[in-house]
Amino acid sequence: MSTSVIILAAGKGTRMRSNLPKVLQPLAGQPLLGHVIHTAKKLQAAEIITIYGHGGDQVQKAFAHENIKWVEQAEQLGTGHAVKVTLPVLAKTGVSLILSGDVPCISEDTLQKLLNASTQTGIGLVTLTVADATGYGRIVRENGKIQAIVEHKDASEEQRKIKEFNTGIYAVSNAKLHEWLPKLSNNNAQGEYYLTDIVAMAIADGLEVASVEPERAFEVEGVNDRVQLAALEREFQNFQAKQLMQQGVHLIDPARFDLRGTLKAGQDVRIDINVIIEGNCELGDNVEIGAGCVIKNTQIAAGTKVQPYSVFDSAIVGENTQIGPFSRLRPGAKLANDVHIGNFVEVKNSSIGLGSKANHFTYLGDAEVGAGSNIGAGTITCNYDGANKFKTIIGDNAFIGSNSSLVAPVHIANGATVGAGSTITRDVAENTLAVERSKQFAKENYQRPQKLKK
Ligand code: UD1
Ligand code: CA
Repeated sequence: MSTSVIILAAGKGTRMRSNLPKVLQPLAGQPLLGHVIHTAKKLQAAEIITIYGHGGDQVQKAFAHENIKWVEQAEQLGTGHAVKVTLPVLAKTGVSLILSGDVPCISEDTLQKLLNASTQTGIGLVTLTVADATGYGRIVRENGKIQAIVEHKDASEEQRKIKEFNTGIYAVSNAKLHEWLPKLSNNNAQGEYYLTDIVAMAIADGLEVASVEPERAFEVEGVNDRVQLAALEREFQNFQAKQLMQQGVHLIDPARFDLRGTLKAGQDVRIDINVIIEGNCELGDNVEIGAGCVIKNTQIAAGTKVQPYSVFDSAIVGENTQIGPFSRLRPGAKLANDVHIGNFVEVKNSSIGLGSKANHFTYLGDAEVGAGSNIGAGTITCNYDGANKFKTIIGDNAFIGSNSSLVAPVHIANGATVGAGSTITRDVAENTLAVERSKQFAKENYQRPQKLKK
């Protein structure tokens, strides 16, 4: 049966106190709504319909690359009204999963369970039983069977004691949605069209209402303010950290680890505290990441050791390299095996060959460095003339003396040596020493200037 996914995202999110629409607030680096869309895609939804209201332009722009049907709910007249406005575009057959844009962590597993449970009955919902369900719609059962959902504000004292509540996640046959939604009324405590009233309609039609509980409670947690957002972020991070540890990653402290994207990790990867992984990253076997590193869209091959406070963005790092502390690898940095990059070394759009080293205070931008070369402390590739960028090419087994400036475009050939402190503007041939600095000048018995008397 084909599955439509309907996502409610018209709420204003006033309590966030933000210019950014609530469903665009990030959780683990991805907008809340992005998490829901991602899960919908995993379920191979035939269509994803998102109901927007506030900040519609911004929200649609953020997901312009996704295949989504956008439906506007200009006035927020209730959850039932929200789903009703989708009817003109909603498939006539199949089943809809109804989700909330501000309940980002609902899992594919739970939704699959819900779909399975609802196939026979035509309607099912995700419920959760907690100690205190204040504020939520309560699940009213008779002989174990769901009879209705009663909103907190409409509930009697007796009903308010019910601990099982409606999480706002449903699976409903599209034929039934087309039949039931036009019949909703707003005759209730809040004067809203309640989606929850379809449960009573199903019972009146002689249907049974299926229910499932989520695998993990945080899956059904909604976000209304920044306190809840931060709390959910931690729960989600703990969950991800646990999964990584179960796959064999050694996190020194899972409470001080953040994954904002995906991490593919080999065996015996060790990650020290306060590391942030963003985008899509890969760490090979036995990679060690020191404290405080930020690693984004980067691949680091087996055996590499990264010392604390190093930052990576879109870099590719070979095996058994040594990086940091305080190294910065920027987009296009490509390190071969056994490379050493040390403190305060910045590498951008440059390839560094097998076994080459740049251990201290260096900028390598738009450079190609061969194998076995040593880049001395304080070397700068001067790649930019204020208007254009140029390349520096350094061959194999070259030695660049400390504090040299290599003014690109320039080529330092294999085996060449550059004397410390040189400003190199012309190519250096193979096995040649190039020195560019004035001869040392000496004046004996030199008197330094004296302070003038006032
Ligand atoms: C709803 C349920 C309640 C459930 C709770 C779970 C109803 C009547 N009640 O209550 O049983 O326990 O969720 O959190 O459905 N929205 C729109 N358009 C609207 C109204 C709401 O898009 O006109 C969206 C909101 O942005 C939000 C979601 O629907 O994402 C739920 O709305 P909300 O007002 O939070 O519902 P509750 O009153 O909390
Ligand atoms: Ca709510």
